Amino acid sequence: MQPFRVFVRWRSLSADESGYGEIQRKAEPNGAALSSISIAAMTDSKSRSRCYQSWRSQPSMTRVFEMSDTNKTVFDAVVAPVLPRVMQGKSSNFFAYGHSGSGKTHTIIGYDYESPEELGLCQASARHLMTDLNRLNADGGSDQLGIGIRMYELRKNSAFDLLNGRCECFVREGPDGQIHLRGKTEVLKDGKVRVRPLATKACWSFEDLSRELQIGLKLRATGSSTVHNQSSRTHATIELEIVTKDLLQARDAVIERQSELVPVGKYATDVYLEEQSRAFVQNDHGKFVPNPYYQVDQARIDTAEARKAEFEARVKSAEEHESTLFQSIARRHPCLGGKLVFVDLAGSEYYDAKNGLGCNQTPQEKQEGRQINTDLLALKEVIRARAQNLSRVPFRTSPLTLVLRQHFQASSDSDSALILTLSPSAREFAATMNTLKYGNLVGVAGNDA
Ligand SMILES: Nc1ncnc2c1ncn2[C@@H]1O[C@H](COP(=O)(O)OP(=O)(O)O)[C@@H](O)[C@H]1O
Ligand SMILES: [Mg+2]
Repeated sequence: MQPFRVFVRWRSLSADESGYGEIQRKAEPNGAALSSISIAAMTDSKSRSRCYQSWRSQPSMTRVFEMSDTNKTVFDAVVAPVLPRVMQGKSSNFFAYGHSGSGKTHTIIGYDYESPEELGLCQASARHLMTDLNRLNADGGSDQLGIGIRMYELRKNSAFDLLNGRCECFVREGPDGQIHLRGKTEVLKDGKVRVRPLATKACWSFEDLSRELQIGLKLRATGSSTVHNQSSRTHATIELEIVTKDLLQARDAVIERQSELVPVGKYATDVYLEEQSRAFVQNDHGKFVPNPYYQVDQARIDTAEARKAEFEARVKSAEEHESTLFQSIARRHPCLGGKLVFVDLAGSEYYDAKNGLGCNQTPQEKQEGRQINTDLLALKEVIRARAQNLSRVPFRTSPLTLVLRQHFQASSDSDSALILTLSPSAREFAATMNTLKYGNLVGVAGNDA
């Protein structure tokens, strides 16, 4: 298993924090090994008297970024080194963790789409990948390589598809054990049934991708960074995957065949149940006994089952086509399927929220807070269990880790990273320390192997 790197990023003091003093901080680099970080500040205690607090991490951090470091500096150190692996078809995952207002969205998505210094990590990655893909496309060949983008907000068991009008999708486990995010089953006007998957928008240039991203972001519940703002209560996930048009079409065909199977499968079950219910009657003692006046219409059941089997075979054949196509394109272009997953996590103030939060929260907000706490705890445990090569990785403990399971599994041989975003204000000392403690546990375990 590759190490799971932990980075620290201090943002600059915001205007409303300036009166509270600054956290003194010191990173202790250790040659090529991991750094420890120590923090200290005079803080207001509950009894209103000022008190001195300090804390020091173990050697667990790969690098500390200071206030003056731009998104580009972070990109160059954190994501750029893994891009060659992505161009070989590998996957890497990046998480931003910190309390609301600490700089997660600034880091992952960015607020300035014009300045190359400040593009968020996902846009900067897309730009680099697109340059590499365009070079391959210019070499000729019939496959046009591009980037498929998916973008959703996870909230409890639902994913809200930001590239499809915030359509709600649910976490479903397929017969193959894979986790899928699928919308409700919809019956269309022509009687066809559709089970909408998460939308993948195909982008053939950086401009395409940037446009899709911005459309999606408009649907994201953003706002001022307070505990009550919506975006702090969801995990926003952006997936970038190297694709071709043919591959996306083959995947659409699988979804289409699966949708066609839904009503046929349901009809077969209905026929079976109907025949069985007619074949038995309740006697005077309330027991079910064979109905002497009804002979099960086995031919009717068999016809329905045969039709179901035919539609199942169509799904299987579409899946086989997708997988054969993937392999044949990947032989020409090993970058196919290379993936980057960025997660702008929910505010870490919900993590272990027993010490503080909560007085002004509605019962619904409290319940959501507990769910986020479960998600963030599960994420830490999953990273630690993987790093220690434990046989059981607790993906099922939370919807977040279950949805990300395939990305974790796909990235076992490439680097992934957690970026801790921190406010340097003494007012945020407790939150900052909690974030560092979380990252410390991840960093210590993630680099044991
Ligand atoms: N490294 C940074 N440099 C400059 N400004 C930052 C930085 N990080 C965050 N900010 C600013 O701080 C505010 C809160 O950051 P944001 O990324 O929205 O926080 P979060 O997503 O963690 O709630 C935003 O106005 C953002 O522009
Ligand atoms: Mg945010």
